[in-house]
Amino acid sequence: MEKQLQTIIQPLLAWYATHRRELPWRVDKEPYHVWVSEIMLQQTRVEAVKKYYVRFIEALPDVQSLSEVPEDRLLKLWEGLGYYSRARNLKKAAEMIMRDFGGQFPDTFALLVKLPGIGNYTAGAIASICFDEKVTAVDGNVLRVVARVTGNRENVLLPEVKKKTETQLLQILPDNAGTFNEAMMELGETVCLPGDAARCGECPLSGDCVAYRERLTSELPVRVKLMNRRQERRTVFLLTAADGSIAVEKRPDRGLLAGMYQFPNTEGFHTEEEIRKEVESRGMRVLEVIYIKDAKHAFTHLDWLMKGYRVRIDNPSGDFLWVTPEELSGQYAIPTAIKPFVPSLT
Ligand code: ADE
Repeated sequence: MEKQLQTIIQPLLAWYATHRRELPWRVDKEPYHVWVSEIMLQQTRVEAVKKYYVRFIEALPDVQSLSEVPEDRLLKLWEGLGYYSRARNLKKAAEMIMRDFGGQFPDTFALLVKLPGIGNYTAGAIASICFDEKVTAVDGNVLRVVARVTGNRENVLLPEVKKKTETQLLQILPDNAGTFNEAMMELGETVCLPGDAARCGECPLSGDCVAYRERLTSELPVRVKLMNRRQERRTVFLLTAADGSIAVEKRPDRGLLAGMYQFPNTEGFHTEEEIRKEVESRGMRVLEVIYIKDAKHAFTHLDWLMKGYRVRIDNPSGDFLWVTPEELSGQYAIPTAIKPFVPSLT
């Protein structure tokens, strides 16, 4: 197995030297830049991340500015990227860097991996790319490349398979580990694409690849989801007053989508009559209830199945924040989950 992986180094690095994409976070090896980009890239595609990254770095150019940013502003900058705990952990880690490291970015894998939101992958990416440490950075792309090259049919979603991949790569890692790690990711993102999208004709490793030789490319890697997903039904109210203002509320400071703004909503699907009663019980006079549409959003462990209703009322009241549609889209971090109901988009 290791013997076979050894042979990928030279063709991979030669390929990367000519195919490396120019990306905003590759302009320098500033750890703050690499860190922010790696966190953004964890659940979002490179093309989509570019504009968020540039805006984020313009607004918060260094660790200190991130450590001091008000939470609402941070969430607004993150709006659309999803998985908001990533943004919160960035800020927490920035605070720790300022407090515990005197503002000096930690420069080893062992120190980095202790920071909030930084796991083996991110610590490995930062330590190898910015500080030339010989450590691996195994993400989904790298798992796919290795599973295919070695013809491994084990479930790559199992932690032990990831661990084994890290061990295999560590044994062959060249001195320029950062370049090697990025080259593996780059190959996974642009050539060794999932399923039938793989571009084996353009791949520098096809000569070394078991999956290619045995026509297993579209079957590998094996990814068997073990998680039980919970389905939650929710009714979403777009409470609209005669003056055009809309009711929003802040979510609790802990848990799912903590601290973000949302339209009032309740668990379960309700009839229009039930909706009318519910809103009136909160002290508002309902003029009309209009069904808008259904929407679905997948969180990590949970799906929201939503039915949205516009509820026209006479006067703003109740324990809500009443905002104009412009204020809503300009100033409040609205989770992607409920974006389908934002008035300008409906
Ligand atoms: N995907 C995530 N991080 C990356 C990086 N540093 N280079 C290429 N693709 C990536």
